[in-house]
Amino acid sequence: MPRHIAIIMDGNGRWAKARNLPRALGHRQGVLALKPIVKTCARIGVSVLTVYAFSTENWIRPKSEVDALMSLLMEFLRAETAELKMEGVSIRTIGNISKLPARALAALQESMQRTADEKRMILNLALNYGGRDELVRAVNRWARQGGDQALTEEILANYLDTAGLPDPDLLIRSSGEERISNFMLWQIAYAEIYVTKTMWPDFDPEELIKAIRAFQSRTRRFGAVE
Ligand code: FPP
Repeated sequence: MPRHIAIIMDGNGRWAKARNLPRALGHRQGVLALKPIVKTCARIGVSVLTVYAFSTENWIRPKSEVDALMSLLMEFLRAETAELKMEGVSIRTIGNISKLPARALAALQESMQRTADEKRMILNLALNYGGRDELVRAVNRWARQGGDQALTEEILANYLDTAGLPDPDLLIRSSGEERISNFMLWQIAYAEIYVTKTMWPDFDPEELIKAIRAFQSRTRRFGAVE
């Protein structure tokens, strides 16, 4: 079983467009799709699930779409925190969340606090997240704390937003695009990548199991010979 699964939830917009619906409805359907995926991951023994919910680049989308995404985040937290807690899921984030709208940040902090003691699985929401931004913030933090010895991989990893978490074993991207899109650049060094053409709103637990089976059939070499 992969210990850590990371997902680029792509295709909400195209899913909506194909149905002549506004993009925001695609995102709403995307949140609905996320719920059973979180539950399934927790139940089958995945330790960390990281989902790319809002990137540092997403701010340039129309204000109405950014607002819709923030509202969906708050709605998700309000509606799901109690159930996630019952499932043993702890909510955490990566990304520069200090730049999120105050109301979204407050809702996040409340959900994180309420679920902080849960141990079954971490649901890691990537919000205002960019891999390059994370690396720059990490190095700046290290420098501010008087980092004077040579920086090593281990030291840098401790300054990343993912400090203390295992690296993703499996990276899933929906909607067929074969891109990384600035997601977890450091952490996916040895991740197995699985791309499905399914649009995120249609991604269901059956698809998830297919991705995990594909992962289990691969030989991971981490740079060594077989
Ligand atoms: C990509 O679809 C998806 C996003 C930019 C946001 C993903 C967000 C969600 C699934 C909902 C919010 C999450 C939470 C946790 C509340 P796209 O709009 O780029 O699709 P397209 O490439 O088809 O246009």
